[in-house]
Amino acid sequence: MAQKFTLNVNGKTHSVEADPDMPLLYALRDDIGLNNPRFGCGLAQCGACTVLVNGKATRSCVTPIGGLGNAEITTIEGLGTIEKPHALQKAFIDEQAAQCGYCINGMIMKAKELLDQKPQATEADVREALAGHLCRCGTHNRIVAAVLRAGKQMGRI
Ligand code: FES
Ligand code: FES
Repeated sequence: MAQKFTLNVNGKTHSVEADPDMPLLYALRDDIGLNNPRFGCGLAQCGACTVLVNGKATRSCVTPIGGLGNAEITTIEGLGTIEKPHALQKAFIDEQAAQCGYCINGMIMKAKELLDQKPQATEADVREALAGHLCRCGTHNRIVAAVLRAGKQMGRI
């Protein structure tokens, strides 16, 4: 049965009326209008839907909104703007790491978690962190280069 939830997304509160089992991804895309978290597999297998929940990379396609309470949810729209991109967003552009771009939301959000938790992350750390994120276009090497570039720009690697 539908209930009212207040979601804290990118520093703003949003009211959503839905079944508590509804995946966070649906609320983000359909109710709040944030379309960068992608629907890929819907089964926690590809990473395209990844957002941060209290700083932790979370697959929003399998995260029911009923369990979120007032957790801080961050989507890629909350990282930076076109005029002022986050270092990760800029590095992905500089390395031309996207081909179709479908996986990039998840790659960047997982990389954000990594660089926040492990400022001295190495190439091996980046590869391990992103191992569960699928890219059908095969731009993996450029994606890794972009994360390492962002780490350097942030003075972390
Ligand atoms: S859509 Fe969520 S992991 Fe694939
Ligand atoms: S750039 Fe196309 S799926 Fe990764």
